[in-house]
Amino acid sequence: MGTTDWRLVKKRTADADGAVYVSADGTRYRRTGGTALRSEAAFQQMVAGLDYPVPQVLEHGEMSDGTFFVDEESLGGQSLHERALASLDGGRELSDQVVDQLAEVSSRLLSAQAAHPVDGGPDALRQWVEQAGWTHNVFAENPDFDTPCTRAALTKATDQLADMPLVWGHLDYGLPNVLPGGVIDWQHHGVTPLGYDVALALEVIPFKGGAKGYAANPEQRERYLTVMDSAARAAGSPPVSPHLGAFLLVKSLFFLALMRPTDPARVDKHQKWQYRRHLHLKGLEQYERTGNVDTALFPTLDGFAAGQGVAGRP
Ligand SMILES: Nc1ncnc2c1ncn2[C@@H]1O[C@H](COP(=O)(O)OP(=O)(O)O)[C@@H](O)[C@H]1O
Ligand SMILES: [Mg+2]
Repeated sequence: MGTTDWRLVKKRTADADGAVYVSADGTRYRRTGGTALRSEAAFQQMVAGLDYPVPQVLEHGEMSDGTFFVDEESLGGQSLHERALASLDGGRELSDQVVDQLAEVSSRLLSAQAAHPVDGGPDALRQWVEQAGWTHNVFAENPDFDTPCTRAALTKATDQLADMPLVWGHLDYGLPNVLPGGVIDWQHHGVTPLGYDVALALEVIPFKGGAKGYAANPEQRERYLTVMDSAARAAGSPPVSPHLGAFLLVKSLFFLALMRPTDPARVDKHQKWQYRRHLHLKGLEQYERTGNVDTALFPTLDGFAAGQGVAGRP
């Protein structure tokens, strides 16, 4: 590790062997992990060349024990999620300043994406549904959801998106991975229709069941989407907001992935799984009926659990 002193920030959410460290002077972050980290670093270097707002990779390689590491520049002290929490004033309202900062970074990301469309091949949208929605896992854990009806809704979504440019996307875009200086944590990257990342940045908050501590109000969500549509138009691309429903259908599958508990005694985990199943069904029903999904109509986890009562227990 050279002469730099590193402090552990956290173990990585989606990689049991990985961790994130910060240097003593706070100027760089180090990620450690296995081979997936190698492709994350290569991807980040590739999109840095496409003007994506990402931290610059400063160094990467293998440590003496074979662990891979990537050092990148610090984009500053706090993620927008941390800023949102810090600016709460006893209530739950997301601060307008955080929404504006998000809109600014999202516009930069969207512009870079729109300026560099990729040729994903004839099957790209179907592959996006599979990768971004983790459908293989979701349908294995929830076989009752693998129905002609769900498959038809997903086909409707990909048909609707046929004219959207395909671009390199983040797939886990949201306040925790956005800093005023750019976007971190690209481990899930893949090819997406334009808008999938940025359009959902405020829409993903309700999937946490109210546990995030803050919520965006309808005006903030609308204003944010208006900025995204303007950024898309300025880049010569179609607006992204008409596809919110199609995007959310796929995102509701993503949030259902890996949720089924192996230990039936874990009542809390069982309830969270049932909650995400409920949100998926609610989104699916709205999308089929109206072509859109309004996340403001989602219940909180507590509200859902109260409505379930004892009948919801395994
Ligand atoms: N380049 C960076 N600049 C500033 N903060 C960073 C940077 N990289 C990581 N962090 C901090 O470390 C935390 C964890 O990093 P992240 O890659 O998002 O891990 P995870 O994969 O577990 O979500 C972030 O929430 C952020 O606070
Ligand atoms: Mg993260």
